[in-house]
Amino acid sequence: MKKLFKMVAALTALCFLGIFQTAQAKDLTGELEIFSWWAGDEGPALEALIDVYKKEHPGVEVINATVTGGSGVNAKAVLKTRMLGGNPPDSFQVHAGQELIGTWVMADRMEDLTPLFEEQGWMSVFPEGLIKLIGTDKGIWSVPVNIHRSNVMWYIPSKLKEFGIEAPKTWDDFLKVAPMLKEKGIVPLALAQNWTANHLWESVALASLGAKKWDALWSGELAFDSPEGVAVWELFGKVLEYTNDDASSLSWQQATDMVVDGRAAFNVMGDWAAGYLSTTKGLAPGTGFGWEASPGTGGEFMFLADSFGLPKGVKNLDNAKAWLVTLGSKEGSDAFNPLKGSISARTDSDLSKYNDYAKSAAADFAKDTIVGSLAHGVTANEGFMNDFASVMEMFLKSKNAQMTAKAAQQIAVKNGIAK
Ligand code: GAL
Repeated sequence: MKKLFKMVAALTALCFLGIFQTAQAKDLTGELEIFSWWAGDEGPALEALIDVYKKEHPGVEVINATVTGGSGVNAKAVLKTRMLGGNPPDSFQVHAGQELIGTWVMADRMEDLTPLFEEQGWMSVFPEGLIKLIGTDKGIWSVPVNIHRSNVMWYIPSKLKEFGIEAPKTWDDFLKVAPMLKEKGIVPLALAQNWTANHLWESVALASLGAKKWDALWSGELAFDSPEGVAVWELFGKVLEYTNDDASSLSWQQATDMVVDGRAAFNVMGDWAAGYLSTTKGLAPGTGFGWEASPGTGGEFMFLADSFGLPKGVKNLDNAKAWLVTLGSKEGSDAFNPLKGSISARTDSDLSKYNDYAKSAAADFAKDTIVGSLAHGVTANEGFMNDFASVMEMFLKSKNAQMTAKAAQQIAVKNGIAK
């Protein structure tokens, strides 16, 4: 009897909780400020997610605060000022991995989202490895909204036909066709501002080192100035000879445009380019645009995940929690990702809503060797990332592989990566 009473009491409590939550959800009012770098061309997927939120919470006014600039180059600096100035947005975009853990979690500026993960049943819906990446022994610190792939090479099939070439499977293949393209006045590989050099570098490094040694760089087992480390910069230098001279003044979208217009043959970029090519440019995957794993990285999936966290001391706590619930939900995820070029971070997403590119990415993600991206926050902390930008500058100016590899090792030691 006692047992039965307890059960009834528990069930009643659960019902109340349910009613309370729905009533609360319907009643939400006031504002919600979300902060990201998904501005302009990068905006449609976020807008779709906001629409899902607005449908559920019509009383909330959403302030979509964006700071333009690929990979968050400008947004991260603005966020820092706001966080340190005690004016955090209600929720902000941050890469899963060291970018989140090594900064705002370490500084004790984030709320632990473990209760939300448990309440929403997310512990069994997001891959275990991903939850580890957004968590520490003290909690879970953000909600992942997608999985992007970094190591992809993009092209336009009809243009390749015109040029009489195929997508290269290795950098050797690329270096064979590149001089001929250059002679014809076609840029073999379109490049943009400096963060895209980091982006290209990680694909070249993965090709040169392979997955095991790439991981070994980040666990401190392989030195950046080892012969293998130097070889990465040597290969990177050769590849750079076939990129455009005006790279530093272009956005990643402008580099992609060069490929679309036929001014360049290829571009290595994350699969937000698939979102841009299909959502913004209206090209069909497979026929309008084509892709391959970046040269030498077939069977390897270099991943990154965008996520949103909840800073301590936000102005609109309930609205922010509801936002996290929407972006972690199946409906939210499957509204956002098909437009973004990414796949859902959830294991139960509805693939029928996704285009052929995303379907192929999902298939690769399920079978490939998975490694983390440096350029997008997975493998290294902010200190290393900032220093790496200077090391990259140094290489772009000097093209000296030995010297740059040494400098990379120094910053790895300084930032606690290498011993
Ligand atoms: C990445 C981010 C992507 C995309 C890209 C270009 O860092 O994870 O979602 O926005 O930058 O800006």
